Amino acid sequence: MASSIVLFGPPGAGKGTQAGNIVAITGKPQVSTGDMLRAALAAGTALGHEAKGYMESGQLVPDEVIIGLIEERLTQSDASDGVLFDGFPRTIAQAEALSEIADVSVVIAIEVPDSRIVARICGRYTCANCDAVYHDTFNPTQTSGICDHCGHSEMKRRADDNEETVRTRLAAYHAQTAPLADWYRHRDLFVAVDGDQDIDKVSQLISAVL
Ligand code: AP5
Ligand code: MG
Repeated sequence: MASSIVLFGPPGAGKGTQAGNIVAITGKPQVSTGDMLRAALAAGTALGHEAKGYMESGQLVPDEVIIGLIEERLTQSDASDGVLFDGFPRTIAQAEALSEIADVSVVIAIEVPDSRIVARICGRYTCANCDAVYHDTFNPTQTSGICDHCGHSEMKRRADDNEETVRTRLAAYHAQTAPLADWYRHRDLFVAVDGDQDIDKVSQLISAVL
Protein backbone atom coordinates (compact mmCIF):
# COMPACT_ATOMS: atom_id res chain seq x y z
CA MET A 1 0.00 0.00 0.00
CA ALA A 2 1.28 3.51 -0.83
CA SER A 3 1.67 5.63 2.26
CA SER A 4 -0.48 8.55 3.28
CA ILE A 5 0.10 11.49 5.65
CA VAL A 6 -2.34 12.69 8.31
CA LEU A 7 -2.50 16.38 9.20
CA PHE A 8 -3.91 16.57 12.71
CA GLY A 9 -4.92 19.41 15.01
CA PRO A 10 -7.74 21.45 16.52
CA PRO A 11 -10.03 23.68 14.45
CA GLY A 12 -8.06 26.68 13.26
CA ALA A 13 -4.67 25.07 13.89
CA GLY A 14 -3.60 25.78 10.32
CA LYS A 15 -4.19 22.41 8.65
CA GLY A 16 -5.66 23.92 5.48
CA THR A 17 -3.04 26.67 5.45
CA GLN A 18 -0.14 24.19 5.67
CA ALA A 19 -1.64 21.62 3.30
CA GLY A 20 -0.54 23.47 0.13
CA ASN A 21 3.10 23.32 1.13
CA ILE A 22 2.88 19.61 1.95
CA VAL A 23 1.17 18.88 -1.37
CA ALA A 24 3.96 20.79 -3.15
CA ILE A 25 6.65 18.78 -1.36
CA THR A 26 5.10 15.31 -1.53
CA GLY A 27 2.87 15.45 -4.62
CA LYS A 28 0.11 13.74 -2.63
CA PRO A 29 -3.39 15.22 -3.13
CA GLN A 30 -5.08 16.94 -0.19
CA VAL A 31 -8.14 15.06 1.08
CA SER A 32 -10.04 17.35 3.43
CA THR A 33 -13.26 15.86 4.76
CA GLY A 34 -14.42 19.36 5.75
CA ASP A 35 -13.94 20.62 2.16
CA MET A 36 -15.67 17.51 0.76
CA LEU A 37 -18.66 17.99 3.07
CA ARG A 38 -18.92 21.70 2.23
CA ALA A 39 -18.84 20.83 -1.49
CA ALA A 40 -21.65 18.31 -0.92
CA LEU A 41 -23.63 20.94 0.98
CA ALA A 42 -23.16 23.49 -1.80
CA ALA A 43 -24.20 20.92 -4.43
CA GLY A 44 -27.32 20.02 -2.44
CA THR A 45 -26.58 16.28 -2.38
CA ALA A 46 -28.05 13.80 0.11
CA LEU A 47 -24.67 13.71 1.88
CA GLY A 48 -24.68 17.49 2.21
CA HIS A 49 -28.21 17.40 3.57
CA GLU A 50 -27.23 14.81 6.15
CA ALA A 51 -24.08 16.67 7.24
CA LYS A 52 -25.57 20.18 7.38
CA GLY A 53 -26.95 20.19 10.93
CA TYR A 54 -23.83 18.66 12.43
CA MET A 55 -21.52 21.11 10.67
CA GLU A 56 -23.57 24.19 11.47
CA SER A 57 -23.65 23.30 15.16
CA GLY A 58 -19.97 22.30 15.27
CA GLN A 59 -20.50 18.60 16.03
CA LEU A 60 -18.80 15.74 14.25
CA VAL A 61 -20.61 14.09 11.36
CA PRO A 62 -21.28 10.39 12.18
CA ASP A 63 -18.36 8.01 11.59
CA GLU A 64 -20.16 5.78 9.06
CA VAL A 65 -20.85 8.77 6.80
CA ILE A 66 -17.24 9.96 6.93
CA ILE A 67 -15.74 6.49 6.49
CA GLY A 68 -17.94 5.86 3.42
CA LEU A 69 -16.82 9.19 1.96
CA ILE A 70 -13.14 8.32 2.45
CA GLU A 71 -13.52 4.78 1.09
CA GLU A 72 -15.00 6.23 -2.08
CA ARG A 73 -12.35 8.98 -2.36
CA LEU A 74 -9.50 6.47 -2.08
CA THR A 75 -10.76 4.57 -5.12
CA GLN A 76 -9.95 7.57 -7.34
CA SER A 77 -6.81 7.26 -9.45
CA ASP A 78 -4.97 10.25 -7.93
CA ALA A 79 -5.03 8.51 -4.53
CA SER A 80 -3.07 5.48 -5.68
CA ASP A 81 0.27 6.78 -4.27
CA GLY A 82 -1.26 7.87 -0.98
CA VAL A 83 -2.88 11.17 0.03
CA LEU A 84 -2.63 13.99 2.56
CA PHE A 85 -5.55 13.66 4.97
CA ASP A 86 -6.64 17.02 6.40
CA GLY A 87 -9.17 16.78 9.24
CA PHE A 88 -9.48 13.00 9.03
CA PRO A 89 -9.44 10.79 11.03
CA ARG A 90 -11.15 12.55 13.93
CA THR A 91 -12.24 9.61 16.09
CA ILE A 92 -10.69 6.30 17.09
CA ALA A 93 -13.32 4.52 14.98
CA GLN A 94 -12.25 6.54 11.92
CA ALA A 95 -8.57 5.76 12.60
CA GLU A 96 -9.33 2.05 12.93
CA ALA A 97 -11.28 2.08 9.66
CA LEU A 98 -8.45 3.98 7.95
CA SER A 99 -5.88 1.42 9.12
CA GLU A 100 -7.83 -1.23 7.17
CA ILE A 101 -7.77 0.65 3.88
CA ALA A 102 -4.59 2.78 3.82
CA ASP A 103 -1.06 2.85 5.15
CA VAL A 104 -0.22 5.97 7.20
CA SER A 105 3.50 6.87 7.34
CA VAL A 106 3.28 9.90 9.66
CA VAL A 107 0.74 11.96 11.62
CA ILE A 108 1.79 15.61 11.79
CA ALA A 109 0.01 17.38 14.65
CA ILE A 110 -0.12 21.18 14.58
CA GLU A 111 -0.37 22.20 18.22
CA VAL A 112 -2.08 25.50 19.07
CA PRO A 113 -3.51 26.44 22.49
CA ASP A 114 -7.28 26.92 22.77
CA SER A 115 -6.74 30.56 23.70
CA ARG A 116 -5.58 31.32 20.12
CA ILE A 117 -8.31 29.45 18.28
CA VAL A 118 -11.30 31.81 18.41
CA ALA A 119 -9.30 34.74 17.01
CA ARG A 120 -7.92 32.58 14.21
CA ILE A 121 -11.27 31.17 13.18
CA CYS A 122 -13.36 34.31 13.50
CA GLY A 123 -10.93 36.24 11.26
CA ARG A 124 -10.68 33.60 8.54
CA TYR A 125 -11.79 34.18 4.95
CA THR A 126 -11.08 32.22 1.78
CA CYS A 127 -10.99 32.92 -1.94
CA ALA A 128 -14.35 31.97 -3.48
CA ASN A 129 -12.53 30.71 -6.58
CA CYS A 130 -9.43 28.78 -5.40
CA ASP A 131 -10.13 28.37 -1.65
CA ALA A 132 -6.80 29.99 -0.61
CA VAL A 133 -7.01 30.67 3.15
CA TYR A 134 -6.52 34.19 4.59
CA HIS A 135 -6.99 36.01 7.89
CA ASP A 136 -8.15 39.58 8.56
CA THR A 137 -5.10 40.30 10.76
CA PHE A 138 -2.63 37.40 10.64
CA ASN A 139 -2.57 36.67 6.91
CA PRO A 140 -4.48 39.22 4.78
CA THR A 141 -4.39 39.36 0.99
CA GLN A 142 -1.63 41.66 -0.29
CA THR A 143 -4.17 43.81 -2.16
CA SER A 144 -7.39 44.20 -0.23
CA GLY A 145 -10.03 41.75 -1.45
CA ILE A 146 -7.92 40.31 -4.31
CA CYS A 147 -6.65 36.74 -4.01
CA ASP A 148 -2.82 36.57 -4.06
CA HIS A 149 -2.94 33.20 -5.82
CA CYS A 150 -5.54 33.56 -8.58
CA GLY A 151 -6.47 37.26 -8.69
CA HIS A 152 -10.16 36.58 -8.00
CA SER A 153 -11.99 39.39 -6.20
CA GLU A 154 -14.69 37.51 -4.29
CA MET A 155 -13.96 36.22 -0.79
CA LYS A 156 -16.18 34.06 1.42
CA ARG A 157 -16.55 33.14 5.08
CA ARG A 158 -17.67 29.80 6.52
CA ALA A 159 -21.08 29.50 8.20
CA ASP A 160 -19.47 27.67 11.15
CA ASP A 161 -16.80 30.33 11.74
CA ASN A 162 -18.51 32.09 14.63
CA GLU A 163 -17.57 32.12 18.29
CA GLU A 164 -20.42 29.93 19.54
CA THR A 165 -19.83 27.17 16.98
CA VAL A 166 -16.07 27.33 17.47
CA ARG A 167 -16.56 26.53 21.16
CA THR A 168 -18.61 23.44 20.24
CA ARG A 169 -15.98 22.41 17.66
CA LEU A 170 -13.23 22.76 20.27
CA ALA A 171 -15.23 20.70 22.77
CA ALA A 172 -15.73 17.99 20.11
CA TYR A 173 -12.00 18.11 19.37
CA HIS A 174 -11.01 17.57 23.01
CA ALA A 175 -13.60 14.86 23.67
CA GLN A 176 -13.45 12.85 20.45
CA THR A 177 -10.33 13.76 18.45
CA ALA A 178 -7.54 14.56 20.93
CA PRO A 179 -7.50 10.93 22.24
CA LEU A 180 -6.27 9.92 18.78
CA ALA A 181 -2.90 11.49 19.60
CA ASP A 182 -2.10 8.64 22.00
CA TRP A 183 -3.55 6.09 19.58
CA TYR A 184 -0.98 7.22 16.97
CA ARG A 185 1.82 7.73 19.55
CA HIS A 186 1.52 4.07 20.49
CA ARG A 187 2.06 3.21 16.83
CA ASP A 188 5.13 5.52 16.59
CA LEU A 189 3.53 7.63 13.92
CA PHE A 190 2.90 10.88 15.81
CA VAL A 191 5.04 14.01 15.35
CA ALA A 192 3.97 17.30 16.97
CA VAL A 193 4.98 20.75 15.69
CA ASP A 194 4.46 24.05 17.49
CA GLY A 195 1.72 25.82 15.52
CA ASP A 196 1.68 28.89 17.75
CA GLN A 197 4.08 30.88 15.60
CA ASP A 198 4.25 32.49 12.16
CA ILE A 199 2.84 30.52 9.24
CA ASP A 200 6.27 30.37 7.53
CA LYS A 201 7.95 29.02 10.66
CA VAL A 202 5.32 26.29 10.99
CA SER A 203 5.90 25.42 7.31
CA GLN A 204 9.63 25.09 7.97
CA LEU A 205 9.03 22.71 10.89
CA ILE A 206 6.69 20.58 8.79
CA SER A 207 9.13 20.52 5.86
CA ALA A 208 11.81 19.24 8.25
CA VAL A 209 9.51 16.40 9.33
CA LEU A 210 8.86 15.44 5.72
P1 AP5 B 1 -13.07 21.21 8.93
O1 AP5 B 1 -13.33 21.97 7.70
O2 AP5 B 1 -12.06 20.14 8.91
O3 AP5 B 1 -12.77 22.26 10.07
P2 AP5 B 1 -11.81 22.16 11.36
O4 AP5 B 1 -11.16 20.90 11.71
O5 AP5 B 1 -12.63 22.78 12.42
O6 AP5 B 1 -10.55 22.93 10.95
P3 AP5 B 1 -10.53 24.28 10.22
O7 AP5 B 1 -10.66 24.06 8.75
O8 AP5 B 1 -11.47 25.22 10.88
O9 AP5 B 1 -9.05 24.78 10.60
P4 AP5 B 1 -7.66 24.54 9.91
O10 AP5 B 1 -6.80 23.78 10.85
O11 AP5 B 1 -7.78 24.02 8.51
O12 AP5 B 1 -7.13 26.05 9.90
P5 AP5 B 1 -6.83 27.06 8.67
O13 AP5 B 1 -5.58 26.66 7.97
O14 AP5 B 1 -8.04 27.30 7.86
O15 AP5 B 1 -14.44 20.56 9.46
C1 AP5 B 1 -15.63 21.32 9.50
C2 AP5 B 1 -16.78 20.46 10.02
O16 AP5 B 1 -16.99 19.34 9.14
C3 AP5 B 1 -16.54 19.81 11.40
O17 AP5 B 1 -16.91 20.69 12.45
C4 AP5 B 1 -17.46 18.58 11.31
O18 AP5 B 1 -18.83 18.95 11.51
C5 AP5 B 1 -17.29 18.14 9.87
N1 AP5 B 1 -16.18 17.20 9.68
C6 AP5 B 1 -15.08 17.37 8.92
N2 AP5 B 1 -14.29 16.30 8.96
C7 AP5 B 1 -14.90 15.40 9.78
C8 AP5 B 1 -14.54 14.11 10.25
N3 AP5 B 1 -13.39 13.51 9.87
N4 AP5 B 1 -15.39 13.48 11.11
C9 AP5 B 1 -16.55 14.05 11.50
N5 AP5 B 1 -16.94 15.29 11.09
C10 AP5 B 1 -16.12 15.96 10.24
O19 AP5 B 1 -6.47 28.37 9.53
C11 AP5 B 1 -7.45 29.04 10.31
C12 AP5 B 1 -7.19 30.56 10.28
O20 AP5 B 1 -5.98 30.82 10.98
C13 AP5 B 1 -7.01 31.13 8.87
O21 AP5 B 1 -7.59 32.41 8.82
C14 AP5 B 1 -5.49 31.21 8.70
O22 AP5 B 1 -5.11 32.28 7.83
C15 AP5 B 1 -5.03 31.47 10.14
N6 AP5 B 1 -3.73 30.85 10.44
C16 AP5 B 1 -3.26 29.64 10.02
N7 AP5 B 1 -2.03 29.41 10.53
C17 AP5 B 1 -1.73 30.51 11.30
C18 AP5 B 1 -0.59 30.86 12.08
N8 AP5 B 1 0.49 30.05 12.19
N9 AP5 B 1 -0.61 32.06 12.75
C19 AP5 B 1 -1.70 32.87 12.65
N10 AP5 B 1 -2.80 32.60 11.90
C20 AP5 B 1 -2.82 31.42 11.23
MG1 MG C 1 -9.40 23.38 7.29
